[in-house]
Amino acid sequence: MSISTLSFSGKKVDYIIDDTFETIHTYHPKEKILLITDTNMAHIYQAKIKSYNTIVVEGKEQNKNQETVDGIIEKMLALSVDKSWMLIGLGGGVITDMVGYISAIYKRGLKLGLVPTSILAMCDAAIGGKNGVNVGNYKNMVGTLKQPEFILFDFEFLKSLPKEEFINGFAEIIKHACIKDKAMFEELSQNNIAYYLQNENALKALITRNINIKNEVVLNDEFETADRYLLNFGHTFGHAIENTYNIMHGYAISIGMVIAAKLSEQVMGFSKNETQQIIALLEKYNLPTQADIDLRKTLEILKQDKKADGADINFVFLQEIGIAQSKKIAFKNLSEMINKL
Ligand SMILES: NC(=O)c1ccc[n+]([C@@H]2O[C@H](COP(=O)([O-])OP(=O)(O)OC[C@H]3O[C@@H](n4cnc5c(N)ncnc54)[C@H](O)[C@@H]3O)[C@@H](O)[C@H]2O)c1
Repeated sequence: MSISTLSFSGKKVDYIIDDTFETIHTYHPKEKILLITDTNMAHIYQAKIKSYNTIVVEGKEQNKNQETVDGIIEKMLALSVDKSWMLIGLGGGVITDMVGYISAIYKRGLKLGLVPTSILAMCDAAIGGKNGVNVGNYKNMVGTLKQPEFILFDFEFLKSLPKEEFINGFAEIIKHACIKDKAMFEELSQNNIAYYLQNENALKALITRNINIKNEVVLNDEFETADRYLLNFGHTFGHAIENTYNIMHGYAISIGMVIAAKLSEQVMGFSKNETQQIIALLEKYNLPTQADIDLRKTLEILKQDKKADGADINFVFLQEIGIAQSKKIAFKNLSEMINKL
């Protein structure tokens, strides 16, 4: 177990890595902890959570919206939750995003702790303070930036994570490799999903490396004026695909990364050979690299994306594997480039 404390905008966040969930009562008086989790987690981990005040929600992406948030807030009012309480989000990225958001808005702010339980939430969603909910087809359209008091990583939870969710999380790991870490790209290319499923220490080391990559980016640029923007690699089309076609986040991002790599060939002179290496790596980790999707339809959705700015959108391209760059591009040009794919 290790604890490191990082400082974001003056707020200190404890990263408790490889500890057990059983210690959470040491971070706040137990009777003033409110756990919020989803139905899957509540079912599997009944015994672990039964002595806590708990609210359980249907943790699907389609329910990551204001209606679910309002339902949780009504239950919090019924429990007389006040500012002396701490909310703890236990679950995947849907839960950590929603609980982070509620902790920022309920009575103008409560203390927050996060216990991410999916690969995706451990390597990405729970880190960096971004939270929020979807509005209709528009991903994460409403939200805030709020850092938790702590993030506790208990790798034991991964033992119950379904395999497709395990694969889903590797999309964000491959994204980190594409934009920031060529050596990790090579390590991933030498291994495969079965290796990380069977080798607990290698998996812990990989997740810790990804926590560090994301933290380094966020510490450099918490409010997304430059470097943090690169984390959106694959997400521009990925988000539009995710909500239009209702597929899992990582799977949609995987397809989005292939589109972004191909567009990088046109804009940055990114090599075709490296695009093929990315496709091969995604396929090795059982992620989809293409789908029968109408890119024109997704382009319409993009016009409402947070990254869009009138007639332009900020798009993340690759210069080479491990080096990314964001550029403003006109929708008109993007549309012509899509025709050439
Ligand atoms: N805030 C950010 O910076 C950020 C970054 C990336 C992604 N996200 C968000 O994260 C969400 C996706 O996260 P996700 O893939 O974790 O989705 P999720 O929360 O829906 O979890 C996926 C599924 O796995 C189950 N699950 C989670 N942990 C489990 C465990 N240990 N054992 C058994 N089942 C478990 C959940 O019940 C759910 O059915 C999206 O909404 C995305 O927008 C946010």
